[in-house]
Amino acid sequence: MLDLSTLRSDLADHYDLAPNPRLADSMSDIYARMDRVVSPPEWVTYAPYVKAINDLKAQRNAAILAHNYMTPDIYHGVSDVVGDSLQLAIEATRVEADVIVQAGVHFMAETSKILNPAKTVLMPDMEAGCSLASSITPAGIAEMRAKYPGAPVVTYVNTTAEVKAASDICCTSSNAAQIVAAQESDTVIMTPDQYLAQNVAKQVPGKRIVWWEGSCIVHERYTAQDLKDFREWNPGTRIIAHPECPPDVVNEADFSGSTAGIIAYVENERPEKAMLVTECSMASNISDALPDVDFVGPCNMCPFMKKISLEKILYSLHTMSTPVEVDPTVAEGARLAVERMIDVSRKLGL
Ligand code: 13P
Ligand code: SF4
Repeated sequence: MLDLSTLRSDLADHYDLAPNPRLADSMSDIYARMDRVVSPPEWVTYAPYVKAINDLKAQRNAAILAHNYMTPDIYHGVSDVVGDSLQLAIEATRVEADVIVQAGVHFMAETSKILNPAKTVLMPDMEAGCSLASSITPAGIAEMRAKYPGAPVVTYVNTTAEVKAASDICCTSSNAAQIVAAQESDTVIMTPDQYLAQNVAKQVPGKRIVWWEGSCIVHERYTAQDLKDFREWNPGTRIIAHPECPPDVVNEADFSGSTAGIIAYVENERPEKAMLVTECSMASNISDALPDVDFVGPCNMCPFMKKISLEKILYSLHTMSTPVEVDPTVAEGARLAVERMIDVSRKLGL
């Protein structure tokens, strides 16, 4: 486990990280991307970290790949690439820098390493896990195969490399329905997200979809009643839900899509009021670029994504820790499953 007091004293020995109004002023171009959601006093404390990270990135020839659930200081301040899981996986294959810092959760870093094994892939906090990834092991995949012989296993990328290697093909929330529809078999096993599977089943009625009982602790907490109550209290709000939400929640929403799909929908539709039924940082990250949209309603935080912070990213680059390694045989199997997904997605123009 990361010892925060050691981390802080080590960083204090090497960098001037005290709040710095002059430095903050000199970086007003970066601040302008987040000034609706980050207050000036907060920016004064973030600016020294942002500067130190961006300098160190250049020294180490590193790129930061950040998921859409990172906080705005990371998303707008230090990231080189931002996106949903599919975009990050595709971008990981294209990174030219020597080092990738994964600002996201552990399965994302593993996916980057699997797709670009020559790179050093650093995780700022190895404890940034995922309730879906920890819900299934290769034994679970074997159990499903025994129960439904001959059915292909479509596995969500939110899984360990071992689970991916035991599967036939991966999917993300932005291509799950199309990947399932592309399978020849009438029965398709989807793991590990029961709700994504149930939502896909509605989109691909020609298939019999069977699923593992995993769930995302952020999205399973929303209820259809929450959404109904909110609509009644604040009429005219466009409700947009991630497909990791239970199907009755998705039914109650006006649109459902991956995090990148959600961003594209709000950018195109420009609703006056929008409620994003997903992780809290999503609305914060797009708020400055969409000043005409009022983001309303409750949101849930992912405790795993929130383990990643500016100070941990700086420490990770400073100490080159912690490199993510994947056993080469496992990596080979997992790469096949992820590359099959990327191939199908490209062919379908997703
Ligand atoms: P996407 O960004 O692919 O929609 O995934 C959401 C998520 O929960 C990632 O952990
Ligand atoms: Fe996992 Fe849900 Fe957190 Fe994404 S939001 S990392 S699916 S627990």
